[in-house]
Amino acid sequence: MTEEPQNPPVIFNPFTPDFMEDPYPHYAEVRRHAPVHEHPGGFWMLSRYEDVLALVRSGLSVEQRHVAPGPFRDAYTNAGVTDDPRLKGLALLDRDPPDHTRLRKLVSTAFTMRAVNAMEPQIRSLVDDALDGIAETGGGDLVEALAFPLPFTVIARMLGMPPTDNKRLKELTNMLMRSVEPTTDPEVMRAVEAADAEIFEMVGEAVSWKRGNLGDDLLSALITAEEDGESLSHDELIAQVAMLYIAGHETTVNLLSGGALALLRNPDQLELLRAKPELEQNAIEEFLRYDSPVHNSRRITLEPYQVGGYEIPPGSFILASLAAANHDEDFFGPDAAELRIDRENARRHLSFGSGMHMCIGAALARIEGRVAIGELVRRFPGLSLDGEVEWNGLLSLRGAARLPVTV
Ligand code: HEM
Repeated sequence: MTEEPQNPPVIFNPFTPDFMEDPYPHYAEVRRHAPVHEHPGGFWMLSRYEDVLALVRSGLSVEQRHVAPGPFRDAYTNAGVTDDPRLKGLALLDRDPPDHTRLRKLVSTAFTMRAVNAMEPQIRSLVDDALDGIAETGGGDLVEALAFPLPFTVIARMLGMPPTDNKRLKELTNMLMRSVEPTTDPEVMRAVEAADAEIFEMVGEAVSWKRGNLGDDLLSALITAEEDGESLSHDELIAQVAMLYIAGHETTVNLLSGGALALLRNPDQLELLRAKPELEQNAIEEFLRYDSPVHNSRRITLEPYQVGGYEIPPGSFILASLAAANHDEDFFGPDAAELRIDRENARRHLSFGSGMHMCIGAALARIEGRVAIGELVRRFPGLSLDGEVEWNGLLSLRGAARLPVTV
């Protein structure tokens, strides 16, 4: 009897030349052939919509110290990096209940809808200024002119940060973003840890300055929350502020550049948006779905976890591919890979996660997206691409580093 030739197993491999330009075909392959994927790198990966949604809502741990010994954990230990390197493991994104519940409540009392909505006029004026600059030069790099500075300035103003060395801070947050990258490169890990320590110090100085200069801003509200009860330690306060600061801009930049790029590469959709501006809000949801600004989340099992006929053992690191889930044909239909700004269920995307860790800044990001992309499209009828996109080389926070346009 001759044996049937076996196809080689599909292994998630984001380190191929084509992945940065378009990772979605590879996600589709993994989702189809290995939806519950035990990766040789020592972690698991989920990519189907229903599985990813159930995982992020499951209440499983986000604390890295729970990862059992094995290749994944060893990579950190061998690099000499502590268990929860980012912001000393104190930011709410990296904490389980009851700490997460306490911190989330405190941050939510400061980061209110009122505070977010109050930013819209400032966002409009920042966008107008940025577009004036683009109009003057006839185009340029959309990331440098709009997509990066807008969210960076908005979150700095909301927090009421004192003037700091923005250039250095940008370099540091950029490096820290690599902590959410699936890397096992010891050099990168050590550089992340050093950036982490420096950010902690810089934000600590800002907090000390703010104590003597309280105002009507997010940082003051968090300081007051800290002083009111004994519910937020000084280090915890610094970690939450740093987290808001970083999450406030390193993600939204991808929504702005990714949304603009999606329209430029799909002129029929750009035309549709111009013809029906009432689709603006839904278009933002579709941009979030079509090209996820944050590709992955993660959870760590404390008990055996059942999914798709598999049992994932305790102590496993599970990568939840939000980006793959957002293109799942079983949920979004056979045209899931296409941009359709009038898609009815676009808002069901998982780009902001779900459950207890669901993004606190979603409303702010949505306003920034709506105003920036809406105005860009309205103001420049001749908007078009003016060269090749340069990618930032990140896997979890994949986005354009340079997006040349002409107007
Ligand atoms: C398009 C922009 C954004 C995207 C795609 C995004 C995505 C996400 C995702 C996927 C999570 C959940 C991670 C998980 O389940 O493990 C998250 C959490 C979080 N985001 Fe965002 N985010 C964005 C903008 C923002 C902004 C503007 C802020 C703040 C100003 C922010 C602050 C946070 C915080 C504090 C958390 C942690 C919440 C928790 O653990 O309870 N994000 N974000």
